[in-house]
Amino acid sequence: MNKSTRRIAVLTSGGDAPGMNAAIRAVTLIGISQGVEVYGVERGYRGLLEGALSPLGAADVAGIIREGGTILGSARSKEFHAREARERARKVLAARGVEGLVVIGGNGSLTGALAISDPEEAGDQAVRVVGIPASIDNDIGLTGLAIGVDTAMNTIVEACDKIADTATAHDRMFIVEVMGRDCGYLAMTAAIASGAEVALFPEAGMSEGEIVDSVVHAVRQVLASGRRHLRVLCIKAEGVHLGADQLRERVDARLCELDMNQASLIETRVTVLGHVVRGGRPSAFDRLLGSRLANVAVRALLAGQTRKMAAWMPPIEIPADIGMRSEADPYCWLVDMSAAIAETEGLPAGETPLARWRAGVFNQLEEVFLP
Ligand code: F6P
Repeated sequence: MNKSTRRIAVLTSGGDAPGMNAAIRAVTLIGISQGVEVYGVERGYRGLLEGALSPLGAADVAGIIREGGTILGSARSKEFHAREARERARKVLAARGVEGLVVIGGNGSLTGALAISDPEEAGDQAVRVVGIPASIDNDIGLTGLAIGVDTAMNTIVEACDKIADTATAHDRMFIVEVMGRDCGYLAMTAAIASGAEVALFPEAGMSEGEIVDSVVHAVRQVLASGRRHLRVLCIKAEGVHLGADQLRERVDARLCELDMNQASLIETRVTVLGHVVRGGRPSAFDRLLGSRLANVAVRALLAGQTRKMAAWMPPIEIPADIGMRSEADPYCWLVDMSAAIAETEGLPAGETPLARWRAGVFNQLEEVFLP
């Protein structure tokens, strides 16, 4: 090992997201362009603890920009909750002469990055890290978009267009459940993009009765609309804890209570998209997003920065003490990683500026686009 050569590593962690490979490719090629050796860590933090690092060269990343998933593999790991594990990880990186780590992932991944880079815990052994937000849920604070969101939205809209065809043919109401864990961003945006009649997301804080009533209201509006085809599309975030099948049963029962004859005019069905939403070739936008966020992250890491996250067009004002626009790319920012995590933790309850901004925009659009 050439001691003088600078060396960085990159890992993907948490739920995979289409576009992660674009980011891995960009980290590798930009690192090489800066005269730096790049190592890939397999299977996230678990692989880091196992010392599963191998060199990445141009040949290793050729063509991966168009591939879904992550060539490095990913894992959800709780190991870093233990200080002993974090110290082991630091030793693995130090033994390989790795000066900095690029972490591509969601909230849990960035939290792990914050832990192994903590100067209070590790002093000068702290690993320098820069994060790249990747989560189809778009549940990461201080960034307008995370890697994978655009592709996931396209996947949902394509599926909903297909469902709308059969719903129209049979005068049916479909409840389509989409991923998003605790965040309803995918459901909100896909409902608008697919012309759905109803969007259900946890941030709305509706009771089960209110959820049922909102769907029944939309169905009855379509029934009374005089439309030739009685198609109703309801997009439900998986974080809405009334199950899709249970919701369907309660809507059926309520429609019958209100007007048995009217209820007989429309059938109800459920489709749960599940992990389909996470797969597939990344969209052009996610390929660009992965490449541009990686560019900002690698340059910041090589310039000696740490505990930062590359962010894409934050839709809220970023105070100077927690972030600044990147000199490498005016659409990107470098924000304080702990501030991003703090915002992330407040998102589901709708208590943060980003959450309030999103809810405000969606409520305005919902009034117009969703009956
Ligand atoms: O965080 C991304 C995500 O796809 C969520 O939308 C979903 O709830 C979760 O991961 C599923 O996790 P797993 O792939 O471990 O089942």
